[in-house]
Amino acid sequence: MVADTGIYVRAADDPVGFWAEQAGALDWFRPWETVLEWDLPFARWFDGGTLNASVNCLDRHVAAGRGDRVAFHFEGEPGDTRTVTYADLLTEVSRFANVLLGLGVRREDRVALYLPMIPELPVAMLACARIGAVHAVVFSGFSPGALRERIEDAGARVVVTADGGWHGGEAVALKANVDQALAGGPPVDAVVVVRRVGRALPVVMVAGRDHWWDELLRGDDPMVGGPPSEVCEPERMGSEDLLFLLHTSGTTDRPKGIMHTTGGYLTQVAFTHRAVFDLRPDTDVYWCAADIGWITGHSYAVYGPLANGATSVLYEGVADHPARDRWWSVVERYGVTILYCAPTAIRTFMAWGDHFPAGHDLSSLRVLGSVGEPINPEAWLWYAGVIGGGRCPVVDTWWQTETGAILVSPLPGVTTTKPGSVTFALPGIGAEVVDDHGRPVDVGNGYLTLTRPWPAMLRGIYGQPEHYRQTYWDRLEGRYFTGDGARVDEEGYLWLLGRVDDVMNVAGHRISGIEIESSLADHPSVAEAAVVGVSDPTSGQAVVAFVTLRSGSGPPTEALGVELQDHVSGQIGAIARPRTVIFTDELPTTRSGTIMRRVLRAVAEGRPLGDTTTLSDPSVVEEIRVRARAAAREP
Ligand code: PRX
Repeated sequence: MVADTGIYVRAADDPVGFWAEQAGALDWFRPWETVLEWDLPFARWFDGGTLNASVNCLDRHVAAGRGDRVAFHFEGEPGDTRTVTYADLLTEVSRFANVLLGLGVRREDRVALYLPMIPELPVAMLACARIGAVHAVVFSGFSPGALRERIEDAGARVVVTADGGWHGGEAVALKANVDQALAGGPPVDAVVVVRRVGRALPVVMVAGRDHWWDELLRGDDPMVGGPPSEVCEPERMGSEDLLFLLHTSGTTDRPKGIMHTTGGYLTQVAFTHRAVFDLRPDTDVYWCAADIGWITGHSYAVYGPLANGATSVLYEGVADHPARDRWWSVVERYGVTILYCAPTAIRTFMAWGDHFPAGHDLSSLRVLGSVGEPINPEAWLWYAGVIGGGRCPVVDTWWQTETGAILVSPLPGVTTTKPGSVTFALPGIGAEVVDDHGRPVDVGNGYLTLTRPWPAMLRGIYGQPEHYRQTYWDRLEGRYFTGDGARVDEEGYLWLLGRVDDVMNVAGHRISGIEIESSLADHPSVAEAAVVGVSDPTSGQAVVAFVTLRSGSGPPTEALGVELQDHVSGQIGAIARPRTVIFTDELPTTRSGTIMRRVLRAVAEGRPLGDTTTLSDPSVVEEIRVRARAAAREP
């Protein structure tokens, strides 16, 4: 049950007016003329208004006398720390914005950011925003091939990276990956390199192209004539001007550059960050543990908290370095009051044992958030009880790269929760579960859809305008198709059931099965591959690949299986590495030749096959079943 507090009622009566009220909480150079222009599927929010995202995240807090407030408590994996205030951040952003201008970056130019979780990443994002350049952050766990594809797709002129980043005690070679990504590939004007791991990794600098971040900022680089000014006049951006691109995986073999614009995005991330976490900016210490390489980090580690003047923790590394209590030591050290993370992390901590959190004082925690994948009631209850000490509301937040901001979630202290349910659409949002024909489901299963435009919605897919309508709006007329299955219970609560398309969700990371299939098909031994996500007790889903070999490529061996796993990691990144490779002589197809992935998923999970009448050769499945059982027995 939702307590009848005014906000839901007000928003339901006048959703557009409700969003205008939220946009009023930002600083605008010029007010908007229209709140919403909606020509399905194209929305324009706050058109005619001008603003700058970095001004809203920095200048206005400093101008209000809050320059000394901490923006980031940064902790590197090796244990090094930095405290960055709002005043510091404004200076750093302005200086780096001037460096970008010095490198020739102008309004609307794209800049690729391939960085670890260090303060230079938000600095670079906000510096782009300040001068009207469009950032395209690429998750630092992606391989050179995936990086190259994204740099090319964005048409980036400049790449900002680091020599490396710390991950599980190892220095990961990021600059070397950039060199590989750019070899014979996309022409970029400049690569800027942050010194992070120093002597731990050798770095080759390409003359004329590569610059050290610190030298540029000291004015020691011949490219810039002296140290950059600490003042940088912000560009007046139109509300609908692009703020950033972020690539995500869909149901094709090509990543989609999701387009987010300025006014609507900032309005909604700021509002949701306040409302969903019941933010008290003067006293809260907020920690979004997601990597900024994904949308969660963009909206809730950078733009949302900074727009609200909040104090955040930024942690670089993994959860078990040097020991499995690292997160809890971070919570204790900084007095974290709000923690936001993915169910995979929660399930991992559960499996590691309660003594790790028990060894730390977690009494500062006040609100706990979950994001990225369905959370099972057991993990929800553990999170609430063991981490939250039974006193912290848990907010399970549903949203996507495309939605930009949280759309479905409880409001702490307002919404009565049920463990495992995302509860209800937030104020101002229209969410409905419908059947195959687009008819609303009162109680039962269906597809989660959105019935109204919202300010932070994607404005398109970069470079693929025709796919925007097709992918999201054509499937169920007049509605945004989320790609997620959901159940509505008797009390109207929403329960997410996972993706209904070929998108997989491994440890809260969105991965395209088709992208992995096309990577496998690139290997000289592979004739055909089908990839499915199967349920996994920790990571939610795991990647299983079914592979047929080319004739003459020799027998299927364990070594070849490992080679194929490595091949995928090398081409896409470790997150896409198949957990299991199952060799088979044939793949199950319909008579028209479509691979029946539903059947493969059932085989891999050891479930009944369901309707197989459309299979062209049912005996194929028997063979695969035997191989899958054998693979499951392997260590
Ligand atoms: O399947 C849903 C799942 O993650 C997908 C979106 O992935 P991505 O664009 O990478 O953004 C992840 C972070 C917002 C969704 O289509 N998902 C996200 N949050 C939840 C979820 N599934 C269930 N419950 C959630 N709270």
